[in-house]
Amino acid sequence: MPITESDTMRRPFHLYPLYGKFNGELSKNYWLQPTHEDFENVLWCHTVQNGIHQYWAPMFTMFSRGNIKEKKRILDTFEEIEGNDVVDLYAGIGYFTLSYLKRNARNCFCFELNPWSTQALKRGVTSNGFNSQSVHVYTENNINALERIKNSGIKDLRIRHINLGLLPSSKDGWPIAQSIIHYQDSLSDENHKVTLHIHENVHTNQLHDGTFIENTIGRLSVDNRYNYDAIHLERIKTFAPDVWHVCLDIYVHQKLKN
Ligand SMILES: C[S@@+](CC[C@H](N)C(=O)[O-])C[C@H]1O[C@@H](n2cnc3c(N)ncnc32)[C@H](O)[C@@H]1O
Repeated sequence: MPITESDTMRRPFHLYPLYGKFNGELSKNYWLQPTHEDFENVLWCHTVQNGIHQYWAPMFTMFSRGNIKEKKRILDTFEEIEGNDVVDLYAGIGYFTLSYLKRNARNCFCFELNPWSTQALKRGVTSNGFNSQSVHVYTENNINALERIKNSGIKDLRIRHINLGLLPSSKDGWPIAQSIIHYQDSLSDENHKVTLHIHENVHTNQLHDGTFIENTIGRLSVDNRYNYDAIHLERIKTFAPDVWHVCLDIYVHQKLKN
Protein backbone atom coordinates (compact mmCIF):
# COMPACT_ATOMS: atom_id res chain seq x y z
CA MET A 1 0.00 0.00 0.00
CA PRO A 2 1.51 3.38 -0.96
CA ILE A 3 1.93 6.08 1.65
CA THR A 4 -0.40 9.05 1.48
CA GLU A 5 2.30 11.71 0.84
CA SER A 6 3.68 9.96 -2.21
CA ASP A 7 0.29 8.89 -3.57
CA THR A 8 -0.72 10.98 -6.60
CA MET A 9 -4.34 10.88 -5.52
CA ARG A 10 -3.42 11.83 -1.93
CA ARG A 11 -5.67 9.07 -0.58
CA PRO A 12 -5.72 8.55 3.19
CA PHE A 13 -4.66 4.90 3.50
CA HIS A 14 -4.25 4.71 7.25
CA LEU A 15 -7.53 5.76 8.79
CA TYR A 16 -8.90 3.36 11.38
CA PRO A 17 -12.25 3.79 13.11
CA LEU A 18 -12.05 4.12 16.89
CA TYR A 19 -15.56 2.80 17.14
CA GLY A 20 -17.76 0.84 14.74
CA LYS A 21 -17.11 0.64 10.99
CA PHE A 22 -16.73 3.31 8.34
CA ASN A 23 -17.77 1.06 5.47
CA GLY A 24 -20.05 -1.85 4.70
CA GLU A 25 -19.09 -4.64 2.30
CA LEU A 26 -17.18 -3.34 -0.71
CA SER A 27 -16.49 -4.87 -4.10
CA LYS A 28 -13.06 -6.27 -4.96
CA ASN A 29 -11.65 -3.31 -6.88
CA TYR A 30 -13.23 -0.57 -4.79
CA TRP A 31 -10.26 1.85 -4.81
CA LEU A 32 -10.06 2.29 -8.56
CA GLN A 33 -13.35 0.96 -9.90
CA PRO A 34 -15.96 1.44 -7.21
CA THR A 35 -19.45 0.25 -8.03
CA HIS A 36 -22.67 2.12 -7.44
CA GLU A 37 -23.20 -0.13 -4.37
CA ASP A 38 -19.74 0.81 -3.05
CA PHE A 39 -20.66 4.49 -3.25
CA GLU A 40 -23.82 3.76 -1.26
CA ASN A 41 -22.00 1.64 1.27
CA VAL A 42 -19.49 4.06 2.81
CA LEU A 43 -19.41 6.94 5.22
CA TRP A 44 -19.87 10.33 3.52
CA CYS A 45 -19.03 13.64 5.15
CA HIS A 46 -20.64 16.96 4.36
CA THR A 47 -19.69 20.52 5.16
CA VAL A 48 -20.73 23.99 4.08
CA GLN A 49 -18.03 26.56 3.37
CA ASN A 50 -18.79 30.01 1.96
CA GLY A 51 -22.39 28.80 1.52
CA ILE A 52 -21.29 25.89 -0.72
CA HIS A 53 -22.14 22.29 0.15
CA GLN A 54 -19.25 19.86 -0.23
CA TYR A 55 -19.14 16.09 0.13
CA TRP A 56 -16.34 13.60 0.52
CA ALA A 57 -15.84 10.00 1.62
CA PRO A 58 -13.02 10.37 4.18
CA MET A 59 -11.68 6.86 3.64
CA PHE A 60 -11.02 7.56 -0.03
CA THR A 61 -10.23 11.22 -0.63
CA MET A 62 -8.49 14.10 1.06
CA PHE A 63 -10.27 17.15 2.39
CA SER A 64 -8.42 20.28 3.45
CA ARG A 65 -10.19 22.88 5.55
CA GLY A 66 -7.26 25.22 4.95
CA ASN A 67 -8.29 26.06 1.39
CA ILE A 68 -11.36 28.00 2.57
CA LYS A 69 -9.67 31.38 2.03
CA GLU A 70 -8.71 30.45 -1.51
CA LYS A 71 -12.24 29.32 -2.31
CA LYS A 72 -13.49 32.70 -1.04
CA ARG A 73 -10.98 34.48 -3.26
CA ILE A 74 -12.49 32.63 -6.24
CA LEU A 75 -15.92 33.84 -5.21
CA ASP A 76 -14.74 37.45 -4.81
CA THR A 77 -12.28 38.00 -7.66
CA PHE A 78 -11.66 36.66 -11.18
CA GLU A 79 -14.46 38.47 -13.01
CA GLU A 80 -13.55 36.46 -16.11
CA ILE A 81 -15.32 33.38 -14.69
CA GLU A 82 -18.86 34.71 -15.00
CA GLY A 83 -20.55 33.37 -18.18
CA ASN A 84 -17.30 31.82 -19.44
CA ASP A 85 -15.68 28.38 -19.39
CA VAL A 86 -13.22 27.10 -16.80
CA VAL A 87 -10.88 24.09 -16.77
CA ASP A 88 -10.01 22.41 -13.47
CA LEU A 89 -7.12 20.05 -14.23
CA TYR A 90 -7.00 18.57 -10.69
CA ALA A 91 -10.66 18.81 -9.76
CA GLY A 92 -10.75 16.53 -6.69
CA ILE A 93 -14.06 16.78 -4.85
CA GLY A 94 -14.66 20.16 -6.43
CA TYR A 95 -13.06 22.56 -3.93
CA PHE A 96 -12.67 25.09 -6.69
CA THR A 97 -15.09 23.84 -9.34
CA LEU A 98 -18.04 24.34 -7.00
CA SER A 99 -16.94 27.94 -6.44
CA TYR A 100 -16.66 28.49 -10.21
CA LEU A 101 -20.21 27.19 -10.60
CA LYS A 102 -21.42 29.50 -7.86
CA ARG A 103 -19.78 32.30 -9.88
CA ASN A 104 -21.97 31.24 -12.83
CA ALA A 105 -19.26 29.73 -14.97
CA ARG A 106 -20.82 28.56 -18.22
CA ASN A 107 -18.92 25.24 -18.54
CA CYS A 108 -16.50 23.58 -16.15
CA PHE A 109 -14.23 20.90 -17.60
CA CYS A 110 -13.08 18.78 -14.66
CA PHE A 111 -10.30 16.19 -14.72
CA GLU A 112 -9.64 13.93 -11.75
CA LEU A 113 -8.06 10.48 -11.39
CA ASN A 114 -9.84 9.37 -8.25
CA PRO A 115 -13.38 8.03 -8.89
CA TRP A 116 -14.30 8.66 -5.25
CA SER A 117 -13.50 12.33 -5.71
CA THR A 118 -15.53 12.69 -8.90
CA GLN A 119 -18.45 10.97 -7.19
CA ALA A 120 -18.12 13.54 -4.39
CA LEU A 121 -17.95 16.36 -6.92
CA LYS A 122 -21.15 15.15 -8.60
CA ARG A 123 -22.89 15.02 -5.22
CA GLY A 124 -21.76 18.59 -4.57
CA VAL A 125 -23.08 19.78 -7.94
CA THR A 126 -26.51 18.25 -7.29
CA SER A 127 -26.76 19.34 -3.69
CA ASN A 128 -25.96 22.97 -4.51
CA GLY A 129 -28.56 22.95 -7.28
CA PHE A 130 -25.99 23.76 -9.98
CA ASN A 131 -26.77 22.85 -13.57
CA SER A 132 -25.16 19.44 -14.09
CA GLN A 133 -25.19 20.02 -17.88
CA SER A 134 -22.51 22.66 -17.45
CA VAL A 135 -20.13 20.34 -15.55
CA HIS A 136 -18.11 17.97 -17.72
CA VAL A 137 -16.48 15.50 -15.36
CA TYR A 138 -13.75 13.16 -16.65
CA THR A 139 -12.52 10.54 -14.21
CA GLU A 140 -9.16 10.20 -15.89
CA ASN A 141 -5.69 11.63 -16.32
CA ASN A 142 -5.67 15.27 -17.40
CA ILE A 143 -3.24 14.33 -20.14
CA ASN A 144 -6.44 13.76 -22.18
CA ALA A 145 -7.78 17.24 -21.43
CA LEU A 146 -7.16 18.83 -24.81
CA GLU A 147 -8.73 15.92 -26.72
CA ARG A 148 -11.73 15.89 -24.40
CA ILE A 149 -12.29 19.60 -24.80
CA LYS A 150 -11.92 19.34 -28.58
CA ASN A 151 -14.51 16.56 -28.64
CA SER A 152 -16.88 18.18 -26.18
CA GLY A 153 -19.05 19.53 -28.98
CA ILE A 154 -18.85 23.07 -27.56
CA LYS A 155 -18.21 25.22 -30.61
CA ASP A 156 -17.71 28.71 -29.17
CA LEU A 157 -15.22 27.83 -26.42
CA ARG A 158 -14.70 30.66 -23.95
CA ILE A 159 -12.05 29.26 -21.60
CA ARG A 160 -10.83 32.15 -19.49
CA HIS A 161 -9.52 30.43 -16.36
CA ILE A 162 -7.52 27.23 -15.79
CA ASN A 163 -6.96 25.80 -12.32
CA LEU A 164 -3.82 23.80 -11.60
CA GLY A 165 -4.36 22.63 -8.02
CA LEU A 166 -1.84 19.89 -7.32
CA LEU A 167 0.76 19.79 -4.57
CA PRO A 168 3.67 19.72 -4.18
CA SER A 169 3.69 20.91 -7.77
CA SER A 170 1.33 21.30 -10.69
CA LYS A 171 4.17 21.69 -13.25
CA ASP A 172 3.13 18.61 -15.25
CA GLY A 173 -0.15 20.35 -15.96
CA TRP A 174 1.36 23.61 -17.28
CA PRO A 175 2.00 22.38 -20.85
CA ILE A 176 -1.50 20.89 -20.87
CA ALA A 177 -2.96 24.26 -19.94
CA GLN A 178 -0.85 25.92 -22.62
CA SER A 179 -2.02 23.46 -25.26
CA ILE A 180 -5.64 24.22 -24.38
CA ILE A 181 -5.06 27.97 -24.62
CA HIS A 182 -3.31 27.52 -27.94
CA TYR A 183 -6.10 25.33 -29.33
CA GLN A 184 -8.72 27.88 -28.31
CA ASP A 185 -6.75 30.67 -29.97
CA SER A 186 -6.46 28.66 -33.17
CA LEU A 187 -10.26 28.74 -33.43
CA SER A 188 -10.64 32.50 -33.72
CA ASP A 189 -8.79 35.70 -34.55
CA GLU A 190 -9.66 37.29 -31.25
CA ASN A 191 -7.03 37.84 -28.60
CA HIS A 192 -8.23 36.23 -25.38
CA LYS A 193 -6.79 36.62 -21.92
CA VAL A 194 -6.73 33.48 -19.78
CA THR A 195 -5.87 33.28 -16.09
CA LEU A 196 -3.74 30.41 -14.84
CA HIS A 197 -4.35 29.60 -11.18
CA ILE A 198 -1.13 27.80 -10.28
CA HIS A 199 -0.73 26.02 -6.94
CA GLU A 200 2.72 25.04 -5.68
CA ASN A 201 4.58 24.35 -2.47
CA VAL A 202 7.37 26.91 -2.19
CA HIS A 203 10.18 27.50 0.30
CA THR A 204 10.03 30.95 1.95
CA ASN A 205 13.48 31.82 0.57
CA GLN A 206 12.13 31.59 -2.97
CA LEU A 207 9.18 33.75 -2.03
CA HIS A 208 11.38 36.43 -0.44
CA ASP A 209 14.00 36.64 -3.19
CA GLY A 210 11.45 36.52 -6.03
CA THR A 211 12.91 33.40 -7.67
CA PHE A 212 9.65 31.48 -7.43
CA ILE A 213 7.81 33.94 -9.67
CA GLU A 214 10.84 34.40 -11.90
CA ASN A 215 11.30 30.65 -12.41
CA THR A 216 7.59 30.07 -13.01
CA ILE A 217 7.38 32.77 -15.68
CA GLY A 218 10.66 31.51 -17.17
CA ARG A 219 9.39 27.96 -17.43
CA LEU A 220 6.07 29.00 -18.98
CA SER A 221 7.80 31.33 -21.42
CA VAL A 222 9.37 28.36 -23.19
CA ASP A 223 6.13 28.65 -25.14
CA ASN A 224 7.00 32.04 -26.61
CA ARG A 225 3.71 32.61 -28.42
CA TYR A 226 2.36 34.19 -25.24
CA ASN A 227 3.12 36.85 -22.66
CA TYR A 228 2.84 35.77 -19.05
CA ASP A 229 2.11 38.39 -16.40
CA ALA A 230 2.16 37.41 -12.73
CA ILE A 231 -0.69 39.40 -11.21
CA HIS A 232 -1.09 38.03 -7.68
CA LEU A 233 0.66 35.68 -5.27
CA GLU A 234 -1.53 34.28 -2.50
CA ARG A 235 -0.04 32.49 0.50
CA ILE A 236 -2.72 29.93 1.28
CA LYS A 237 -1.32 27.97 4.20
CA THR A 238 1.90 26.57 5.59
CA PHE A 239 2.56 23.06 4.34
CA ALA A 240 5.70 22.34 6.38
CA PRO A 241 8.17 24.52 8.31
CA ASP A 242 9.26 27.28 5.90
CA VAL A 243 7.21 25.81 3.06
CA TRP A 244 4.09 27.61 1.87
CA HIS A 245 1.26 26.34 -0.26
CA VAL A 246 0.84 29.31 -2.57
CA CYS A 247 -1.28 30.18 -5.55
CA LEU A 248 0.14 32.33 -8.31
CA ASP A 249 -2.33 33.97 -10.69
CA ILE A 250 -0.92 34.56 -14.13
CA TYR A 251 -2.52 36.34 -17.07
CA VAL A 252 -1.70 34.64 -20.35
CA HIS A 253 -2.20 36.60 -23.51
CA GLN A 254 -1.14 36.06 -27.05
CA LYS A 255 1.68 38.14 -28.45
CA LEU A 256 0.47 40.33 -31.29
CA LYS A 257 0.33 38.38 -34.51
CA ASN A 258 2.58 39.87 -37.23
C1 LIG B 1 -4.65 18.57 -4.04
S1 LIG B 1 -5.84 17.48 -4.72
C2 LIG B 1 -6.99 18.58 -5.40
C3 LIG B 1 -7.81 19.19 -4.47
C4 LIG B 1 -9.02 19.57 -5.22
N1 LIG B 1 -8.96 20.90 -5.71
C5 LIG B 1 -10.24 19.06 -4.48
O1 LIG B 1 -11.31 19.65 -4.58
O2 LIG B 1 -10.18 18.03 -3.83
C6 LIG B 1 -5.14 17.00 -6.21
C7 LIG B 1 -6.04 16.06 -6.99
O3 LIG B 1 -5.47 15.87 -8.27
C8 LIG B 1 -5.70 14.54 -8.69
N2 LIG B 1 -4.69 14.26 -9.71
C9 LIG B 1 -3.35 14.11 -9.56
N3 LIG B 1 -2.74 13.93 -10.75
C10 LIG B 1 -3.73 13.98 -11.70
C11 LIG B 1 -3.74 13.89 -13.13
N4 LIG B 1 -2.61 13.71 -13.82
N5 LIG B 1 -4.92 13.99 -13.76
C12 LIG B 1 -6.07 14.19 -13.08
N6 LIG B 1 -6.12 14.30 -11.73
C13 LIG B 1 -4.98 14.19 -11.04
C14 LIG B 1 -5.58 13.73 -7.41
O4 LIG B 1 -6.31 12.53 -7.50
C15 LIG B 1 -6.15 14.70 -6.35
O5 LIG B 1 -7.52 14.46 -6.10
